[in-house]
Amino acid sequence: ARTLKSLEPEYTEYQADQGRTAYEKNQWFFEIAWEVANKIGGIYTVIKTKAAVTVEELGEQYCLIGPYNESCVRTEVEIMEPANDAMRRALEQMRSHGINVRFSQKTSFSVHLAYPGYNMWPENGNMSSPCNFQMYNSSNVVFGRWLIDGYPKVILFDIGSAAWKLDEWKRDIWDITHIGIPWHDRESNDAVIFGNLTVWFLAEFRKNLEKTPYVVAHFHEWLSGMGLVVARSKHLDIATIFTTHATLLGRYLCAGSTDFYNKLNEFNVDKEAGDRGIYHRYCIERAAVHFSHVFTTVSEVTGLEAEHLVKRKADVITPNGLNVQKFAALHEFQNRHAVAKEKIHDFVRGHFYGHYDFELDKTLYFFIAGRYEFSNKGADMFIEALARLNYFMKSSGSDMTVIAFLIFPTRTNNFNVESLRGQAIAKQLRETVSAIQKDLGHRLFEISLRGDIPKGEELLIKEDIVKLKRCIFAAQRNSLPPVCTHNVIDDDIDPVLCAIRRCQLFNNRSDRVKVIFHPEFLNSTNPLLGLDYEDFVRGCHLGVFPSYYEPWGYTPAECTVMGIPSVTTNLSGFGCFMAEHIADPMSYGIYIVDRRYKAADASVNQLAQYMFDFTCLSRRQRIIQRNRTERLSELLDWKNLGVYYRKARALALSRTHPELFHEDINQNGIRTVSRPASEPPSPSISRTSTPAPSEDEDDEDIDAPDSEEEREVLSRRETPTRDSTPSN
Ligand code: UDP
Ligand code: G6P
Ligand code: GLC
Repeated sequence: ARTLKSLEPEYTEYQADQGRTAYEKNQWFFEIAWEVANKIGGIYTVIKTKAAVTVEELGEQYCLIGPYNESCVRTEVEIMEPANDAMRRALEQMRSHGINVRFSQKTSFSVHLAYPGYNMWPENGNMSSPCNFQMYNSSNVVFGRWLIDGYPKVILFDIGSAAWKLDEWKRDIWDITHIGIPWHDRESNDAVIFGNLTVWFLAEFRKNLEKTPYVVAHFHEWLSGMGLVVARSKHLDIATIFTTHATLLGRYLCAGSTDFYNKLNEFNVDKEAGDRGIYHRYCIERAAVHFSHVFTTVSEVTGLEAEHLVKRKADVITPNGLNVQKFAALHEFQNRHAVAKEKIHDFVRGHFYGHYDFELDKTLYFFIAGRYEFSNKGADMFIEALARLNYFMKSSGSDMTVIAFLIFPTRTNNFNVESLRGQAIAKQLRETVSAIQKDLGHRLFEISLRGDIPKGEELLIKEDIVKLKRCIFAAQRNSLPPVCTHNVIDDDIDPVLCAIRRCQLFNNRSDRVKVIFHPEFLNSTNPLLGLDYEDFVRGCHLGVFPSYYEPWGYTPAECTVMGIPSVTTNLSGFGCFMAEHIADPMSYGIYIVDRRYKAADASVNQLAQYMFDFTCLSRRQRIIQRNRTERLSELLDWKNLGVYYRKARALALSRTHPELFHEDINQNGIRTVSRPASEPPSPSISRTSTPAPSEDEDDEDIDAPDSEEEREVLSRRETPTRDSTPSN
């Protein structure tokens, strides 16, 4: 019964008539988010990975709107002027209204006090200010193409350069909505400026089109939601969609010690938001939710949360997908795992110098990664479960070693000396050995050429041994291998370090579980762990994401499409989605920890058990499991999940322009609803093309198939049973 269930969404009469293209229908679609060409967290991944299917569907009628972030734009965006007349004129009009030149404030103290954080400050075009201004020629409304799959159009606003309008816009918002935004809240000020610039552009753009267009604007999260509120309050004729990827209050409440899920219907939301100093932000979010024609959330679990905390049921659930890329060779992902793992091995050799007494061939890499929300992301549970896993492995006499990486960016004073020293020592030894190897080869050749049988001492001469000894002695250490790669600022109160200290996971020789906290996102230029995040994930064996608050959770989803098993929870959108669509997720390498119906301690035990069971798998079993995991990719492909976004757009249009969805009268005088001309790429495809694990396919990557052993592996469940855990 390990088959995938259908994802077929319900289609109703509001589904757009896709017989004519968006262009022919004069429909325009804008997607607005703070994360457009601006890498922050999962929303960036949503927008970026979805672009290809959206452009495929909407073509040139689709455009993204975001803030101008210089460092991202420099590497990710090709700047140009729009070919479309209406769009070009709209941008010109905006530029000609005082935001066409970028100003940079050099020494303005008074301005800084009035608008904390903003560097850009032209005084309404008036240059006679006492402040010292520097003028740049670059435009602050940038149009371009985002250099990602789909090559979508983007419009990016330089938020700082429009700060001079902030007071006026805030006053308007107060007059219309009575939401008062405190002067010191930089993010809310950003939201006001970004929202108003977006509406300004959309209004100009609409005006410039000859024929009345049908415009759909899809806003993501509260930071862009201000635009939706302003657009509706100005009665702009656009169909609006608001997607929340988390509610503000939900995130805050969970980060505390609230019994969130059991009390969802009891919260006094206004009071809770006020107590946390986020009442105005909460109001922006709630206004966007209620003003939108269509409201969507990324998962059922967040839908329920929104119903209670922002008081509206989602019209559509829009689960997050990925842009799944299949390799030409079916098992290329397995090879990539082996290659990336080798790079992690290199780092480990250096990091554990002097304590390198475990076999890398029997070492498993587990990891957790994400924005540093300690308890929301389940880092607390992970560390606690690692301590128990350590105990299980020690007491069962396991010969395996687990190295657990925790990757959460936080403030640091660079790498620590011990970590750098480890890599330097390993490098030195590697270079010495390779020099000796070269000399030794030369000697071996010379001796053999003379017809002599080479003797040991003739090959490895004293000099070499001295060189080697020097390296070996340098690699002795009195301290334990560090648990952290960097000097963390305020490390005495850092939650990960405190938890590691409490659980005494200090990388002792006897520990079967070692930990490494890397308080910075990964990239290939990193001198310690020189790998991009994607390669790092590929090289690991298990991603562990025991989140308490996770509306979706891209990190385990990304593991899945790379064929890396992962742990998630039944409180995460992704975990619930997988549980709903796969009959037996565990057999596909999707371990779902129960954090909903179990006490925290029981959940920790369950996680420790899953991890322990994983350490008991043979290499063959791990390979089989990876094959199965990778097979789930199709379920997470935007080619299938994009259909929910399409549904949301059609629903929004049907609410603002029901005439677009007219009923036709057929030849017999019977009313029929227009037929969608092209079949949506329904996820039902996955029913036929995503195979249930079959014995033959599971074997595909196994290096030396042994049919008898294979049958045995496949006839029983791959994960060892709980009996293998030592009792306490
Ligand atoms: N991520 C990354 N580098 C890292 C760790 C994570 O780029 O070292 C990315 C990851 O690929 C994912 C995103 O950060 O796309 C996190 O998204 P998720 O939905 O899991 O969590 P969020 O941060 O949005 O709450
Ligand atoms: C991939 C490679 C194999 C390798 C294996 C290691 O499947 O194709 O050649 O043996 O990875 O798996 P492990 O789980 O031990 O890292
Ligand atoms: C939010 C959520 C995360 C989700 C992402 C994309 O940042 O925290 O769970 O995956 O948005 O929807």
